Amino acid sequence: MEGNIGFIGLGLLGTPMAWQLHNRYGKRLSVWNRTREKCAPFETAGVRVCTSPRELIESSDCVILMVSDGKAAGQILGTCEHTNAYAGKTVIVMGTHAPAEQIALAKRVEGLAGSYLEAPVLGSIPQAKARELIVMVGGSESLFNKWQDFFKTFGDFIVRVGDVGKASSLKLALNWLIASLTASFSLSLAYIEKSGVNHELFMEILRKSALYAPTFDKKLERMLKKDFDNPNFPLKHLLKDVMLVKEEVLNASLNPLLPESIEKIIKAGICQGLSENDYSALFLALLSTPK
Ligand SMILES: NC(=O)c1ccc[n+]([C@@H]2O[C@H](COP(=O)([O-])OP(=O)(O)OC[C@H]3O[C@@H](n4cnc5c(N)ncnc54)[C@H](OP(=O)(O)O)[C@@H]3O)[C@@H](O)[C@H]2O)c1
Repeated sequence: MEGNIGFIGLGLLGTPMAWQLHNRYGKRLSVWNRTREKCAPFETAGVRVCTSPRELIESSDCVILMVSDGKAAGQILGTCEHTNAYAGKTVIVMGTHAPAEQIALAKRVEGLAGSYLEAPVLGSIPQAKARELIVMVGGSESLFNKWQDFFKTFGDFIVRVGDVGKASSLKLALNWLIASLTASFSLSLAYIEKSGVNHELFMEILRKSALYAPTFDKKLERMLKKDFDNPNFPLKHLLKDVMLVKEEVLNASLNPLLPESIEKIIKAGICQGLSENDYSALFLALLSTPK
């Protein structure tokens, strides 16, 4: 990849991803974040910090967005919408957004003479730090071929899923498993505790069975200690993803009862003040009956 890279969105996952770009591309990286304080470590490391998204977009050949949702991505890209604003530039949107949002953003960028890829990722902060994110790309084959090596900044497993929108569909299908497996495991564990059965025996049998998923052990200690601080992925983002899944399921004329139930459970957790906690805090929402 030649030219300057602009990175927007220094959140929980965006920050370690931006450091990987800094490690590989050094002075060619610029950053912008709505909350300026999050740029301070990058400024200290000599990274150019832009004062607006427009400044970053205008000075970059490649613009990467890693922000909360599709609405935020649209607002940011909309700050630079004069004719040819994106001419010769590639915009890569890496957050978890709806396929339709990605398609609409691609049309806007392409209408302003730019190129567009969606590239949602699987993995979290530890994987971003270890360069082990899985990058799922949606866009034309020729653009994917051009950028494939660039994506290796974040991990070795890079895959083109299809046109823009397809990678987001795949990402949402995977994130539905995060929500549903965590909810199911939480309910089993809560029930085991209430029933007075030893949870170690429950785990021993579960680990030997075909029902086991590694995510259960990753979340077990948090649930047993009821400690959901310092999240890698907060409950509010799991709610966003489950609501996106519900919409996709409805659009596909599938039965939405499962995502609707988990949406309600997560919303109960958010009413308990767990929005910024680790998503496994939905365990707490299952400990009480609904009012
Ligand atoms: N964390 C994970 O493990 C993980 C894994 C895979 C995918 N993802 C997805 O990746 C995306 C980012 O995740 P994250 O964990 O880094 O989220 P995060 O910590 O909540 O950070 C969100 C980022 O978006 C920015 N933002 C939000 N609304 C904005 C707006 N209207 N205008 C400008 N900037 C805005 C925030 O800026 P401020 O700093 O100013 O708030 C922040 O930089 C999400 O779509 C998430 O679902 C996350």
